[in-house]
Amino acid sequence: CGIIGYVGPRPSQDILISGLARLEYRGYDSAGIAVIDGEGSLGTRKRAGKLQVLRDDLAAHPLADGTTGIGHTRWATHGGPTDANAHPHLADDDKLAVIHNGIIENFADLKAELVDAGHTFRSETDTEVAAALLGREYAASGDLVEAFRATVSRLEGAFTLLALHRDQPGLVVGARRNSPLVIGLGDGENFLGSDVAAFVEHTRHALAIGQDEIVAITPDEVTVTDFSGDAVDVEPFEVVWDAAAADKGGWSSFMAKEVSEEPEAVANTIRGRVHDGIVEIPELDGLDELFTDIDRIIVIACGTAAYAGMVGKYALEQWARVPVDVELAHEFRYRDPVIGARTLVVSISQSGETMDTLMAVKFAREAGAKTLSICNTQGATIPRESDAIVYTHAGPEVAVASTKAFVAQITALYLLALHVGRVRGALDAETIAAQVAQLEAVPEKIARVLATEQEHIEQFAHWMADTRSVIFLGRHVGYPIALEGALKLKEISYIHAEGFAAGELKHGPIALIEPGQPVFVMVPSPSSSPLLHAKVVSNIQEIRARGARIIAVAEEGDAAVLPFADEVLRIPLAEPLFEPLLAVVPLHIFAMGLATAKGLDVDQPRNLAKSVTVE
Ligand code: G6P
Repeated sequence: CGIIGYVGPRPSQDILISGLARLEYRGYDSAGIAVIDGEGSLGTRKRAGKLQVLRDDLAAHPLADGTTGIGHTRWATHGGPTDANAHPHLADDDKLAVIHNGIIENFADLKAELVDAGHTFRSETDTEVAAALLGREYAASGDLVEAFRATVSRLEGAFTLLALHRDQPGLVVGARRNSPLVIGLGDGENFLGSDVAAFVEHTRHALAIGQDEIVAITPDEVTVTDFSGDAVDVEPFEVVWDAAAADKGGWSSFMAKEVSEEPEAVANTIRGRVHDGIVEIPELDGLDELFTDIDRIIVIACGTAAYAGMVGKYALEQWARVPVDVELAHEFRYRDPVIGARTLVVSISQSGETMDTLMAVKFAREAGAKTLSICNTQGATIPRESDAIVYTHAGPEVAVASTKAFVAQITALYLLALHVGRVRGALDAETIAAQVAQLEAVPEKIARVLATEQEHIEQFAHWMADTRSVIFLGRHVGYPIALEGALKLKEISYIHAEGFAAGELKHGPIALIEPGQPVFVMVPSPSSSPLLHAKVVSNIQEIRARGARIIAVAEEGDAAVLPFADEVLRIPLAEPLFEPLLAVVPLHIFAMGLATAKGLDVDQPRNLAKSVTVE
């Protein structure tokens, strides 16, 4: 969900709507705004559906504008995506408006208490319960900040709450727990946003708000306190993205733009971290004990980030010689994992806000583990909760399906593996330099895949538009790529797709093969992995004999696959560990091509959110 707040001299509606448009990528199914107009009355408008529905409604029935406002895009959790359940929610005789992101876990108890006290509700949301509590406290104190303080202590779960009150124009108050909120500092105006995209077109000066803090913004002042009202230090940062980076430019979709940015995503993530052929990540200076005093690494993440983690495991084990487990964050937290001071938990998250991952990081910390976050978003919550951060520099990723962030995550994991390998004395300088040279060659190789294969793959995807099911096979680092290829297809083309380890085929999945079944096969390099190459070619023969239609992702010049493949998508030559960074590119293009051929919205697939801030 997206949140924006504004106070300043300008009419706020346009600022709110364009901020929400920049947050659209987070996923939502209804939207609304509340504005205090020049007469001191509070107007709200909220509609189920895309932002355009709200825009059209405002155009048809204008709302008096004003210079204090809040805006929200909602992804339904409690109560379906209806006009009534959309935010803002009102309280205190419709003088107070509230927007909320997250889930208030004790809302049923609170609601029962309010209903007993005679309160009636207009929606099924947990948010309206928070609004009612705030309204009650405001009626008692006549002060919005004080009302917040009294209210947040009663709430359990995760929330970013923003509110304004008609009797206090020029003020927006916010609070956060386990859910994102950042401040944008303008000149005579200030902003709040669920991330910097909300206000980056107006200012690049930002403040990160910590856990369990309350912020009040007026046009000239920003005050941040903890939940008991004591002032706290806030961390200023400059937003490195410019507004243009989050624009579609001339591209047909954000996803198309972001796939085209994969070479830079890798190059920018390497930049500044290699000195004389040796990997030294400046952010990890002085933190050697995170890597020397451990006997195990656990990588936690969700979705695409988890597949990046699976690829990273191969490099971390090979180069750093530390045992690595990769686990889905939501599974990790709810068992009883054996972790402690000698465990390093590496989280991976593009947004830095995924609630499942955040909760797993906190859980790991509480159990005494060391934590390191790989993240693409400055000022996000997960890096703030970790002992160390390695940022990926993919730039803002807007399309829901992750592409450039994925290659940047693998790059960051490889840099980390080489850094840890050096610190632990597992690697000599020569080996590091050789691997660095391979990594530095990746951007140019990805650019080559885009230049030589894109059109061909898009054409091919077009022919496949009626396909109902696709299987992806891979071995070694090709296995997580098979999983990622299948995920991309599910996410944006709504086609049933599954990835399997090629060796596992004969233990079950081969029963799925019937004549005409399309199977993508990640073929290892014949020169650098001859053994694996031979094994995969025989896997291809097994399924080909049963009628499968083979689409091979194979190295340039690999002729062994030609007799068995119906289609070959070529990637440049690379050492085995570097193949995933190349092999995933045709799969991104294919998924995008197929979704486009089916007439689907590739950037905002149904039911999905870019950053899932609920568990
Ligand atoms: C959501 C998105 C996925 C993404 C996953 C992890 O499920 O739809 O595309 O891979 O979250 O997101 P993160 O921001 O933690 O990398």
